[in-house]
Amino acid sequence: MSPTRPVVLDTVAAVRETLDAERAEGRTVALTPTLGALHDGHLEHVRRAAELADIRVVSIFVNPLQFGPSEDLDRYPRTLEADLDALAAEGVPYVFAPAVEEMYPAGPAQTHVVAGRVGSMFEGRSRPGHFDGVLTVVAKLLNIVQPDVATFGQKDAQQLFLVQRMVRDLDLRTRIEVVPTVREDDGLALSSRNRYLDADQRRAARALPRALEAAASAADLGVDAVVAAAQSVLMGEKLVEVDYFKVVDPATFEPVPDDFRGTARALLAARVGTTRLIDNDELHLG
Ligand code: PAJ
Repeated sequence: MSPTRPVVLDTVAAVRETLDAERAEGRTVALTPTLGALHDGHLEHVRRAAELADIRVVSIFVNPLQFGPSEDLDRYPRTLEADLDALAAEGVPYVFAPAVEEMYPAGPAQTHVVAGRVGSMFEGRSRPGHFDGVLTVVAKLLNIVQPDVATFGQKDAQQLFLVQRMVRDLDLRTRIEVVPTVREDDGLALSSRNRYLDADQRRAARALPRALEAAASAADLGVDAVVAAAQSVLMGEKLVEVDYFKVVDPATFEPVPDDFRGTARALLAARVGTTRLIDNDELHLG
């Protein structure tokens, strides 16, 4: 017998009514926000969520606010039926999958969350407005679902940092649970965009996790050595065009000074063909 499909809620009112009834029975709620096209990285979130709350909700919403005019909004994969099967197998009871008109009935939200200075760095530099769009939809989802806990992936380190800061800055009640990056056997971080890579590009994409490993191994020697180690791996791979490699202070997400010591995070973004990939890892700078 195939497992029971999640109940798909597509209005804000239905989510509120359903979850209020669950809460009235004393149950706690965990939310995993996604854009859909679910892979094993997303499924790791719902497995973790099962340990954190009684009721799990996954939102599936391709949020137009976070896609730039020249980005892949129309091309973004939409695989709702397969997503529901995957979530059924994990025993997830509820999916919130609203239409764009339900989330933004009067067009793009005029009142929105501004991500601040860090929002225009790194990913925000090549994607202006992206993080304002992410934070606005995340704030809406947290207000709609009112979860006790919400899961976010370390894979999107800058998004995670900004969400955690928004929760603090705006005194939101939800606790943010960090889910470690799920990787393929060869180290490539799972991403919905990996499906756009052809065989050569897929092989070349291995250079991203390898560069981060090389960076971590050189961390004892300081920031310059880290950058050199990562660069030497990345330069060896012609199909990989680096957008940025930066070492940031996890407390501020600002680039670290050359003499920084302690725990830092290396951020890497690169284009492989037309596909943009990001990855990151922790470093212990000596
Ligand atoms: P999406 O890219 O679908 O990712 C949903 C969640 O899964 C995010 O928290 C992301 O960091 C996490 N994730 C992605 N790849 C992962 C991997 N390999 N291992 C572990 N976690 C992974 O990020 C978004 O959607 C959107 O910006 C969203 C937060 C839903 C707002 O629209």
